[in-house]
Amino acid sequence: MNRRTFLKSTGAGLLVAGSGMAWAQSAPRPLPLIPLTDLTGGIEGRISLALNKASHDFGTGAQSETFGINHDYLGPVLRVKQGQTLPFDVVNNIGETSTLHWHGLHIPGDVDGGPHQEIAHGATWSPDVPIVQHASMNWFHSHMHGRTARQTYSGLAGVLLVEDDASLSADLPKTYGVDDFTLILQDKMFDGSGKMTYALTAEVFEDGFEGDTLTVNGAIAPVAQSVPTGLVRLRILNACNARFLELSMQSGPITVIASDGGFLAAPVEAASILMSPGERYEVLVDMSTVDSNELTVNMDGGGSFFASLFGGNAATTVLTLTRRAEAGFDGAMPRRLANLAPPKASEASVTRSFQLEMDVGADLAALAASWDNFCGDAGAMAINGQPMKMDRIDEVVRKGNTEIWRVSVDDQLHPFHIHGCSFRILSQNGAAPPAYAAGWKDMVHVEEGWSEVLVRFDYEAPKDAPYMYHCHILEHEDCGMMGQFTVG
Ligand code: C2O
Ligand code: CU
Ligand code: CU
Repeated sequence: MNRRTFLKSTGAGLLVAGSGMAWAQSAPRPLPLIPLTDLTGGIEGRISLALNKASHDFGTGAQSETFGINHDYLGPVLRVKQGQTLPFDVVNNIGETSTLHWHGLHIPGDVDGGPHQEIAHGATWSPDVPIVQHASMNWFHSHMHGRTARQTYSGLAGVLLVEDDASLSADLPKTYGVDDFTLILQDKMFDGSGKMTYALTAEVFEDGFEGDTLTVNGAIAPVAQSVPTGLVRLRILNACNARFLELSMQSGPITVIASDGGFLAAPVEAASILMSPGERYEVLVDMSTVDSNELTVNMDGGGSFFASLFGGNAATTVLTLTRRAEAGFDGAMPRRLANLAPPKASEASVTRSFQLEMDVGADLAALAASWDNFCGDAGAMAINGQPMKMDRIDEVVRKGNTEIWRVSVDDQLHPFHIHGCSFRILSQNGAAPPAYAAGWKDMVHVEEGWSEVLVRFDYEAPKDAPYMYHCHILEHEDCGMMGQFTVG
């Protein structure tokens, strides 16, 4: 793990000695609000999303080469409503082939945006995406086979908030940018001049790419200035390639109200939450009794594996909230949020097992050296002994089936994801998941052992547009720790 140990000042940013985060802001920067496209009131015409090549200053004083979706880095926040069909026009202008996957949506395989729905440079992909699921925080990102890691790191990622009648009328903060903030977290590596870098080595393939500086909506340690007094809602996405983030609040516990696939039954208070790449959590922060609060992150979150490797790491502030006198949302902490029955494992008719494998004997150093010109089946990591192959279907699932998927791994901590569904976690190494992860999920942590989820498949994915299941450490995914399944 790289830790810079020297001090260097550029225009706006500062390299900090001995800190877990290499770059810091020399003056506080306001939290960038990601532009909101609110479609809950109705959709006129088609929704265009343009994948662009651009440049962006993360606060280091230098322009970094980035990708963005309608913007110079990352995409818009799309707010839509259950029951709508989203007529997208996704235009690719990045100079290389890409795809755009709707992570978390319960949609058929042919509009899923996975590796089979390539969009060549200059082409437009126009899927009509039906929104059938309940209120939930989803996201979209590149899923270009072999290039998912670099394209997503460069900025091809955005947030899609699904609302429903219940969430729109719920007594919760929901004024965007006032008491309701969407936060996209991505770790970055910068060179000495403050430009974002990404480089692959054998070690990076093994650990996944980890930057030493965490950014929030494209800024380093920003400040949400003068948020109203009362409850404030943070909708958080870990869009890092590989980093698990352990989040907590500087003052008081962290109160979780929703996970990947929707609301929890009731708010859950925790000392900290562990977020893998790809995961989303919504939290409420009580700004009625404090003048400021801080969202802090232990960048080496990840429990025993990371602690044993790095000896733990002190938490660093990634977002400061400062309060103004006027009230915003003036309701109380909700007592109930949703009906959420415990998962019934007895409903499963099939159990499938998946063994994630890091080492299938490939030469990772040679692969890293030739990666820039490479795209496709790397054959270097595997599931059940089979590295991902675009032309091989690994599992065939019957539509309407409820199944138990058991995922095992020998070493490291891996975040496992399944397309086209939400699931419930039954067990992580024999233990129940933490209460904040007991609701609807599409990501599960698998650490030196096994995890089991209960999942139901309700939408079709044909042979030419299968769903994926994979490790969401994007370099592992690109290397082949991914498989394909049909539903029919
Ligand atoms: Cu977030 Cu298959 O992806
Ligand atoms: Cu997905
Ligand atoms: Cu992995």
